[in-house]
Amino acid sequence: KSKINLLSAAICLSMASSVTLADELRDRATGMFEAIPTEAPVIEGNVLTPEKVELGAMLFFEPRLSSSHLISCNTCHNVGFGGDDYLPVSIGHGWQKGPRNAPTVFNAVFNAAQFWDGRAADLAEQAKGPVQAGVEMSSTPARVVDTLNSMPEYIDRFKASFPEQADPVSFDNMAVAIEAFEATLITPNSPFDLWLNGEDDALNAEQKEGLALFMDKGCAACHSGVNFGGQGYFPFGLITRPGADILPEGDRGRFEVTKTATDDYVFRAAPLRNIELTAPYFHSGAVWDLEEAVAVMGVAQLGAELNDNEVQKITAFLRTLTGDVPDVMYPKLPVSTKSTPRPVD
Ligand code: HEM
Ligand code: HEM
Repeated sequence: KSKINLLSAAICLSMASSVTLADELRDRATGMFEAIPTEAPVIEGNVLTPEKVELGAMLFFEPRLSSSHLISCNTCHNVGFGGDDYLPVSIGHGWQKGPRNAPTVFNAVFNAAQFWDGRAADLAEQAKGPVQAGVEMSSTPARVVDTLNSMPEYIDRFKASFPEQADPVSFDNMAVAIEAFEATLITPNSPFDLWLNGEDDALNAEQKEGLALFMDKGCAACHSGVNFGGQGYFPFGLITRPGADILPEGDRGRFEVTKTATDDYVFRAAPLRNIELTAPYFHSGAVWDLEEAVAVMGVAQLGAELNDNEVQKITAFLRTLTGDVPDVMYPKLPVSTKSTPRPVD
């Protein structure tokens, strides 16, 4: 009997210590990260009415926002494909290659600022960029407004989305509606989030070890918060500068935005949500393999050669950041009319 008692005492003790360990890991993680909410966040100055979100979805899929009538936001941020294009660098107007890899639009609403260099303050400001960029959609605000005004359904939908405005069909409102739609592109319920919210079995032992390594090694110093990044700026190559194949010399990151010497080759710590869906990696899109990207980070940002086992575990953990991808219904777009500007090369 006493043997049984001893045994059960030992079992209780070991259970207690593993419970404490699990709680300790969760306590630490809770201090650094946040789960993705299940509802779209509130955006200051942009109330997400159903009318506006629906209009935003149409505009997101609207190729006539490009001068060729071929390229929509979804071309490079394919919502069936991780919210990006799965290319090293995007291909836009006239098959031109842009300078950078397209980041995902999923959860972009949680980033403190948009783009690899953070040069747009929010999604509405961001959305005006690609429409006008020569290598992306190559249009102009005037052409966009003419296009939208040429289709009565768009006029009605802008009126319904901005009921307080006298002249609602505008380039700015296009961007505001797209922002409203993008705010709904969030991916809750990842295994990590379920675990963070108390489901012990949502992560296995390897994934938990990977999480512990992610925090212990220092990754979380830059990749934290709700998006595991997207908040602060750091030199890419803080400790060891990667080669020009990964960090091309022509792209000096935030330096181009601020013209400050200390911002040379500084980039936004990339958000790591759904990272397994968004290869290839880095602003250059030079690395296809997530394990390799993790190893590169170890050397470049931490001065640490992570061994294969550590890389494996950290990567296993990063794969738990994949959430429920939003269900998006492909919108029906109104037909062009006689006054719709024709496509141009
Ligand atoms: C960046 C949305 C069109 C390629 C972004 C970001 C958002 C976004 C939210 C920033 C994400 C982040 O920083 O985490 C949109 C919208 C579009 C659109 C709403 C339509 C109006 C396009 C098109 C292309 C493209 C057509 C490809 C030809 C890129 C690239 C970046 C980017 C390469 C990164 C650029 C940089 O950091 O300098 N886009 N996008 N986007 N998008 Fe788009
Ligand atoms: C990018 C993981 C440590 C700052 C990335 C990417 C991954 C990653 C996978 C690519 C994201 C993408 O392409 O979408 C890790 C891991 C780390 C770590 C596993 C620990 C071993 C750090 C630290 C810092 C940092 C400590 C800051 C000092 C950045 C920056 C980028 C980035 C600035 C963007 C690089 C670019 O411009 O291409 N990280 N990271 N990371 N990380 Fe880390």
